[in-house]
Parts: sequence; structure tokens; C-alpha cells
Amino acid sequence: MNTFSEHWLNPPKNLIISSRDVHLWRINLNQTESQVAIFKNTLSSDEIARAERFYFPQHRQRFITARGSLRSILGQYLQVDPMEVQFIYQQRGKPLLADKFADQKITFNLSHSENLALCAITCENLIGVDLEHIRPISDLESLAKRFFSPREYESIKSIPGQKKQETFFRYWTCKEAYLKATGDGLVKLEETEVNLISDHESELLVRGNWTLRELNVANNFAGAVVVNGSDVSWEFWDFS
Ligand SMILES: CC(C)(COP(=O)(O)OP(=O)(O)OC[C@H]1O[C@@H](n2cnc3c(N)ncnc32)[C@H](O)[C@@H]1OP(=O)(O)O)[C@@H](O)C(=O)NCCC(=O)NCCS
Repeated sequence: MNTFSEHWLNPPKNLIISSRDVHLWRINLNQTESQVAIFKNTLSSDEIARAERFYFPQHRQRFITARGSLRSILGQYLQVDPMEVQFIYQQRGKPLLADKFADQKITFNLSHSENLALCAITCENLIGVDLEHIRPISDLESLAKRFFSPREYESIKSIPGQKKQETFFRYWTCKEAYLKATGDGLVKLEETEVNLISDHESELLVRGNWTLRELNVANNFAGAVVVNGSDVSWEFWDFS
């Protein structure tokens, strides 16, 4: 459950994190060309190759900024330069820190949508985060029918107007954050049930000890984070 009380602050110089802590980082992906060039210098050759495959320059620049910011954030916890951060990838694409950083036990996840990204950091526990720009979708009800549980679909169908879109993206981000925490990605969305308790409070109806929190990131965005464990202490940092 959550109560939407995020205050996004400037981070302290020394970042310390324990297994009870979750740090959320809000990242602005609209950066100047010179800043993007600085981020690009910190990327690995496979990341640069990936960036070069984007057709639209804006998508390329946002990818570089998200990866560069992620490297910079992780570098602060690991006390290494951003370019020294190394990733490995699980079978379904979830990035983790390479084995050489195993001692610190830092876990993370990233999501981006339009001009914003969210990065979630913790220690020892699985974590997943999702961010979506709330936008009109023409076949929203048929998507909900296909990917949501019957109860969730009925609740979407009964909601009028703009609130229907908002509710759709609330369900979506809560489910995806959980499936990103497990590393499964977009599979079995309909089996990952979510109960929206109030405008900003929700709970996951899945097995295991998970904490879900919805996030107030910016107007017209839905965001959610899921972490394995309970009794979580939250911090919200603005990356600059
Ligand atoms: C993970 C997934 C849900 C992300 O969807 P999305 O809404 O487009 O993207 P988001 O912005 O929320 O998240 C993207 C980030 O999540 C992370 N990520 C990628 N795969 C992930 C996974 N399986 N689990 C958790 N996080 C993942 C990466 O950091 C990625 O950032 P990048 O694109 O800059 O590398 C989607 O890509 C998916 O379902 N992947 C699984 C695909 C698969 O099964 N592949 C098998 C063969 S490779």
C-alpha cells in the first residue's frame, strides 16, 4: 500500500543503502546535445551499438541519457566511475550488476516513458519499476480484456472518461513493476492481480512477500515499484 507522499529531493553526496531501503530516482531524459555526448562517453560498446540502432535521434538520445544516468547513479553507490559499471543480463533481458560488484549486493531496475525515466535501487532484494505516460489508447477495453483479470477488466469497463485511461495505466504499471521485479517481463499479466484500494493505494494479490507502491512522478504519468520484502524505507531523489 502507499499514500502518494513523494517529495523528490536533491540527493546527499554519500549514498548508503541497506536491504530495507528503496531509493527511487527521477531522471529527465530531455538533455542538451553536449550532456548526451558526456553520457555517451560512459557507455559500453554494446550499449553504443544498441543506441545506434534507434531510427529516431530523439529515441537514441533518450536511451543514451537513461543508460548514462543509470551508470552514474550506480557508480555513486558502488564508488566507481560510471564507465566502470558493468552489467550482465538475465535470460529475459533484465540487467543486473556484473559479478565483480556482488559484494555490495545492490539491485536495481529502470523504466522510461517519453521524457522521463525512473530508476529504483535497493540491496539484496528483487526490485522492479514501471513508468508509463498516460495517453489515449483506442482499443483500451480490448487490451484490458486480453491482459487483465476478469475482475480488473470489469472495473475498467465501468469507469467513464479520462479516469478509464488513468485506471488502465495504474493496473498496467503495478503489474509490469512486479513482472520486472521477477525478471519475467510481459508474460501472464492477467495472472498478476492488483487491487486498487483508493486513488493512490493498491495491493498485489500474488504469492510471496512483496511490497507494491504507486508513485507520483509527474502529471499524466503512472508509476509503480515492487520490491521483495516488507517494512520498506523509501527515499526519492531527483537526478541531475
Ligand atoms: C521488460 C519489459 C517488460 C520492458 O518493457 P517496456 O515497458 O518497453 O520498458 P521499460 O521502460 O519499462 O523498461 C525497460 C528497462 O527494463 C529493463 N529490463 C529489460 N528486460 C527486463 C526484464 N525482463 N525484467 C526486468 N527489467 C528488464 C532494462 O533496464 C530496460 O531498459 P533499456 O531498454 O534501457 O535496456 C519488456 O521488454 C519485456 O517483456 N521483456 C522480456 C522480453 C523477453 O522475454 N525476451 C526474451 C528473449 S531476450
